[in-house]
Amino acid sequence: MRLTVTGVVVRAARSARITTPQRVTSLSSRVFRTGCSIRTQSTQAAPQEFPHTRPHSRPAEGDLLKSQKSIQEEEPSRRAFQNRLKEEKANTVVQDGALSGANVSGTSYVFDSISNLSPSILNLTDRRLYDIPDHPICITRKLIESVFSAPFYTNHTVADPVSTTADNFDALGFPADHPGRSRTDTYYVDSKHVLRTHTSAHQAAAFSHMARTKSSGYTICADVYRRDSIDRSHFPVFHQMEGARIWHLNQPENRTRLQAMKMRKERLREDIASLEGHNLIVEDAPTFDKARNPFQIEHDEEEVRLVVQHLKRNFELLIHRIFTAATAAGVGDPSTKDEPLRVRWVEAYFPFTSPSFELEVLWQGEWLELVGSGVVQQPILSKAGMSRSIGWAWGVGIERLAMVLFGIPDIRLFWSQDPRFLSQFKRGTVTKYEPFSKFPACYKDVAFWVPATSPSAASPLNIPDGGNAGVAAAAGGDATKANPAEVQASAFHENDVMEVVRDVGGTLVEDVKLTDEFVHPKSGRKSLCYRINYRSLERTLTNDEVNALHGTVTERLVGELGVELR
Ligand code: PHE
Repeated sequence: MRLTVTGVVVRAARSARITTPQRVTSLSSRVFRTGCSIRTQSTQAAPQEFPHTRPHSRPAEGDLLKSQKSIQEEEPSRRAFQNRLKEEKANTVVQDGALSGANVSGTSYVFDSISNLSPSILNLTDRRLYDIPDHPICITRKLIESVFSAPFYTNHTVADPVSTTADNFDALGFPADHPGRSRTDTYYVDSKHVLRTHTSAHQAAAFSHMARTKSSGYTICADVYRRDSIDRSHFPVFHQMEGARIWHLNQPENRTRLQAMKMRKERLREDIASLEGHNLIVEDAPTFDKARNPFQIEHDEEEVRLVVQHLKRNFELLIHRIFTAATAAGVGDPSTKDEPLRVRWVEAYFPFTSPSFELEVLWQGEWLELVGSGVVQQPILSKAGMSRSIGWAWGVGIERLAMVLFGIPDIRLFWSQDPRFLSQFKRGTVTKYEPFSKFPACYKDVAFWVPATSPSAASPLNIPDGGNAGVAAAAGGDATKANPAEVQASAFHENDVMEVVRDVGGTLVEDVKLTDEFVHPKSGRKSLCYRINYRSLERTLTNDEVNALHGTVTERLVGELGVELR
C-alpha cells in the first residue's frame, strides 16, 4: 500500500514508484516528498527579507509572517542554560549535566524527553543550497520560479528550519495520531518544535500574508527534514518548493454575491486561457469523486473544475519546461528525445487540500511522482482571513526534479563540496552531470536480535502533543533516544538504525538494505541483517576507515537501540 506524506493510503501500490527523494519503507514512512526568516523576492523586485518569526529573536517588523512559536515557561536553571546556548556555536549539541540543547538559526532550544536531533543533522541546517546561485538546487528553484513568477507570485525562501508542531501539523489538519508526527519519522527539537517536515508548514503564515497584502500567489522554497531509509534517492535533508494561487472575491457594491462569483469564474477562464500551451500527453484524473476525492461543501462545483484545471495546466507547463531543458541538455534516453513526454494525474489525499492530486511523469521507463497538490481546504484560508477566496496549492521535491534535470544519480552529491561536482553547474543553465569517478564500494553486514518490545513502548506513538496515549502504533514503534545526551533502549524502528548509520557514516554511506529477516521459531525473537554500503563520492575509503566506522555503528546500535549482535 502506498502512503502520501500525510500517511493516508490513497490506492494500492503500483509498486516501487518513487516520488520525490524518499520512498515508502514501512507503514510509518511517507512516499511523497515534495516538504524563520523568510526571504521574499519577486522576479522583478530585488530580494526582500521576510521578518524573523521566532519570538525571542528580532521582533516581526511589518508582521509579515507571524509564528505560532510560544515562549515556554522555564525554570531558572533551564533559563540560564537557554541563555548560555545563545553564546554557543550554532548548530552544535551542548550538554550541561542533565540539560542539553542547541542554538539553531539563532534561537536556543533546551532539549526535552521528545528531542531526537542528531549532531549530523544539525550540521546541515545552515547550508542553504537553494541560495547558492551555481548550485543545481538553486538553478532548479529559479527554473520553477520562472514559471511561477511576478506579477501573480512572490517567491520566498525560509532559512530557519525550525517550525512549531502547530504550524507543521495542527494548522494543516493532521490528526493527532498521524504517523508523520511520530519521532521515528520526524526530528523533534523539543516537544513543541520540529525541523519542518515539509514547506506546507509555512502555509498558514503565507496565506495570512497574502490576506494582508491582497496578493494572489506565492512559492516557498526551503530545506525539509525526515528520518528515513538510506539509498541513492533518500537523504534526511532535502528541499521542497510549495506554490499556491488564490482568487479573491471582488464584490463591488452594486453587485450581488452571485454576480461576483460569476465574475470570478470568468477571471479563472481568462487565466486558464492565458497559460502557455505544451505538447505533453496527459492522462487526466477526474476533477473530483464525491466519495474518494470530494470537492468541499463550501465550493461551487463549476468553480472547482476551473481551479483544478488551472492547477493542472500550470503545473504541466512547469514539467514541460523542466523536461525540455533536460532533454536539450542531453539528459535521458536519446532514442526517445523527440517523443512527447507522457504524464498522468492521479487522485491523492492530503489533509489540507480537497480534491487532491499527484502528477506522475514517465521518465526513462519509470513513472516518477513529482507533485502533490489540490484545492486548499477552506478552513485554512478562512483562518488566514480569506474566507471568500478560493485557490490551489502544490508541493514538489526539488532534488527529484534536479536529479532528472541534470542527470545526477545520487542524492548525496547535492551536499558535496568537491569542486569536481560544483564546477559543473552555472546559474541559468542546465548541463548534464558528468561523473568524475566511481570509487569502490565496501559492504559490511550487521546482524542482530531485535529487543523484545514492552507493551507500553509498542502501542502508543510517543508523540509530544498531549493526549496521544493509546493512539495506534502506525509508526511501528518508538524512537530510540530521548535526547542526544540521554541514551535509552526502547521499541525498535528501522528508521532508528538508519539514523545511527547516518550519524556515524554521514555521506560516506551510499545505502543500507535489509538483507535477511526471520523470527526464531522457539523464542519468537526477531533477527535482522542489514548490509551497509560504504562508498565515498569523492575518494577511495581505506579498509581501516570503514572498519572503524562500522565498529562505531555496531557499538551504537547495541548501546542505543538495545539490539543483541548475532
Ligand atoms: N506538503 C505535501 C508533501 O510534502 C505536498 C503538498 C503541498 C500537497 C501542497 C498538497 C498541497 O507531500
